[in-house]
Amino acid sequence: MQKFYGKLAGYGKALPRKVVTNEELAQRIDTSDEWITERTGIKQRHVVSEDEQCSTLATQAAREALAKAGIDGADLDLIIVATSSPDYLTPPVSSQVQHELGATKAGAFVMVVGCTGFVSALITADQFIKTGAYKNILVVGVEVITRMVNWEDRNTCVLFGDGAAAVVLKAVEFETGIKSHLMGSDGSGWEHILHPSGGTKNPPTHETLSAGEQYLTMNGREVFKFATGTIGKALHQVTTDAGIGLDDIDLFIPHQANARIIEYAAKSVNMPEHKVFINVNRYGNTSAASVPIAITEAFDQGRLKEGDTLALVAFGSGLTWAACVLTV
Ligand code: UT7
Repeated sequence: MQKFYGKLAGYGKALPRKVVTNEELAQRIDTSDEWITERTGIKQRHVVSEDEQCSTLATQAAREALAKAGIDGADLDLIIVATSSPDYLTPPVSSQVQHELGATKAGAFVMVVGCTGFVSALITADQFIKTGAYKNILVVGVEVITRMVNWEDRNTCVLFGDGAAAVVLKAVEFETGIKSHLMGSDGSGWEHILHPSGGTKNPPTHETLSAGEQYLTMNGREVFKFATGTIGKALHQVTTDAGIGLDDIDLFIPHQANARIIEYAAKSVNMPEHKVFINVNRYGNTSAASVPIAITEAFDQGRLKEGDTLALVAFGSGLTWAACVLTV
């Protein structure tokens, strides 16, 4: 029987023009560059302006990925957009992206899995390639999370940033792409990262708005514990399942939420520093966009090259996690 593999054939990113530094935040709220740097490693983040939206960032990143892959929107069979901050709750932003790209024969859907979304979407896309159903799939991770945080709440607003990145998976007949994957969820922690109002349980009212329930809330300490415990375990599992050792990994890209979490997790599995990609200092936590932005930069900086073995681990609201090992 004919076998297909999902080759990472193109990648691209899009970031809002405006950059907000820690020093600028410290002028507006009770925080400091020292606190943010020491606790998170973040120095600055990109923040959307009025004319920049989830759909426009996603489309811009997608265009770059398509150009690198040498295909047009019209060649796409499927578009998966991982996001928790779409332009609208309805329609799915994936259809806006599809329209902008002229991807007339593509199916399109959104995956809402918080910061885990892009890795979950990549794993899902790979399944459609492996079954032989589709040849060209666009996977986007995008967030405009700064419009969901309370800019007066220092517990959350200093942590996040906006951005988008996309990859194209192309069906090929030589062995490459995802070798192993896992997806997990522990719903007992659903309240730890929560958007209290805006869904159907608590639709926005004057009361919810004046209580600030439209803003994202997070129990940072609980998420920190969960993340540091989960990353190493997930990495071990996917490497074992791929039949390789941790030494065989050329580059490890974890979700970029906090440099301390990444350093702690890397140390717990003895992953040497030079194999761990960190760019949270420049972007903050861009949620579902963090892993694909890092993939794009790793290629552009020459830290990732064709044939390398890459490990991805993401974690986020739900609580959820997803990981995979792939040849790029
Ligand atoms: O992608 C989704 C996943 N999210 C994450 O991975 C986030 C995981 N959690 C974290 O990264 C960390 O828990 C945080 C960075 C959010 C917080 O760091 P922490 O070391 O856990 O600090 P904390 O929440 O225990 O707060 C310590 C102190 C508190 O003051 P008191 O109560 O000790 O007087 C906070 O009020 O730091 C205070 N604080 C701040 N101070 C200055 C909290 N935020 C700030 C701030 N500036 N921005």
